[in-house]
Amino acid sequence: MQQADNAIMRRVMAMKNRVDGLRRDGLYFYNQSVSELRGGACVVVNGREMGMYASYSYLGLVGHPRINQAAKAAIDNFGTGTHGVRTLAGSLTIHRELEETISSFKHAEAAITYSSGYVTNLTVVSTLMSREDYVISDKLNHASIVDGCLMSGAKFLRFKHNDMEALEERLKQVPSDAARLVIADAVFSMDGDVIDLPRIAELCQKYQAWLMIDEAHSVGVLGKTGRGIEEYFGLEGVVDIKMGTLSKTIPSVGGYVAGKKDVIDYLRHASRAYIFSAALPPAQAAAANEAFKIILDEPWRIEKLNANAHQFINGLKQRGFDTMLTTTAIVPVLCVSDENAFMVTRLCQLEDTFVLPVVSPAVPVGLARLRATVTSAHEPDEIECAMNVIEKAGKKVGLIS
Ligand SMILES: Cc1ncc(COP(=O)(O)O)c(C=O)c1O
Repeated sequence: MQQADNAIMRRVMAMKNRVDGLRRDGLYFYNQSVSELRGGACVVVNGREMGMYASYSYLGLVGHPRINQAAKAAIDNFGTGTHGVRTLAGSLTIHRELEETISSFKHAEAAITYSSGYVTNLTVVSTLMSREDYVISDKLNHASIVDGCLMSGAKFLRFKHNDMEALEERLKQVPSDAARLVIADAVFSMDGDVIDLPRIAELCQKYQAWLMIDEAHSVGVLGKTGRGIEEYFGLEGVVDIKMGTLSKTIPSVGGYVAGKKDVIDYLRHASRAYIFSAALPPAQAAAANEAFKIILDEPWRIEKLNANAHQFINGLKQRGFDTMLTTTAIVPVLCVSDENAFMVTRLCQLEDTFVLPVVSPAVPVGLARLRATVTSAHEPDEIECAMNVIEKAGKKVGLIS
């Protein structure tokens, strides 16, 4: 007992010392107080208005009048609670409507929603897979996928990031009679690059593996109408489990998977986060439902996002920064060391450009970065200004000359 207490306290104190040290040096930027989100391009942080370059609201839908109106109407209709676990007491018409909207948007037979994207990955992977099975996961997959794989108890194999030869090697290791699931992010959350769907789908077919893709950062971003990775590659129907969140492009909270009706029905009766946890609040379900419709009604947002991402990536590259392999709205600005990433962040925020650092252990040592984002809410001159601020900071810290 004594030993366990010590081990726990050692962990607690190690974190405390790191955070206290950063605070002392004025280099702690997480959990800052944001009092206003002005349409996604602008925020008020600690009372100061700043250009927002750390938002996941890729299509600038935060505060969209139709979405706010839908949420208010849902409160008037259903109140604010979640009314308990859906299976027993709380499956509202708005939940069904949302799931129909999602399945239609994703061109799938059916969909199921959960209370967060994180929980969705945990529960879906651990419900579908069990001890004798194999899950095969890209090394840069989101933590929620990793946790879902571990929780499932299945044999957990990882392959080098977006490396299809490495994936094939892994697939060859799976015994011929074992069930196998390959999982990857569509757009990688720290690097902004896109999974090689054509090759991964081909390999899944060759080795008879199911394919699950996490579309947290690709819905509203990839594809002409924002439907995501299958539309982007013109490969309709190759993904078996289409997972996504309701907390990024969709300005709500929650997660979902879409797929074959029988699979979704199975999850509705077997996944513990559905059976033993409360449903999405009605206002959030209604907000998400409306947001999917707006993506289809306002395609200019996707075109503008693409143009803005192009301007941001190319502008930073021209200024001498390493933006790694990104081709999307997530734009890493490589700072190498944690210290550099903290310093660049401080200099940018002092000039009212809100960016945030991502450091180890979230990314490997030596690959600390700003994890900057652009949205369709930004205007080209605003992006230019932000890049000038990042350039000035990069020069001061010695990242670029
Ligand atoms: C790729 C990916 N999957 C899942 C999640 C979890 O989603 P949520 O924040 O909605 O729980 C995230 C969140 O950052 C993510 O980036």
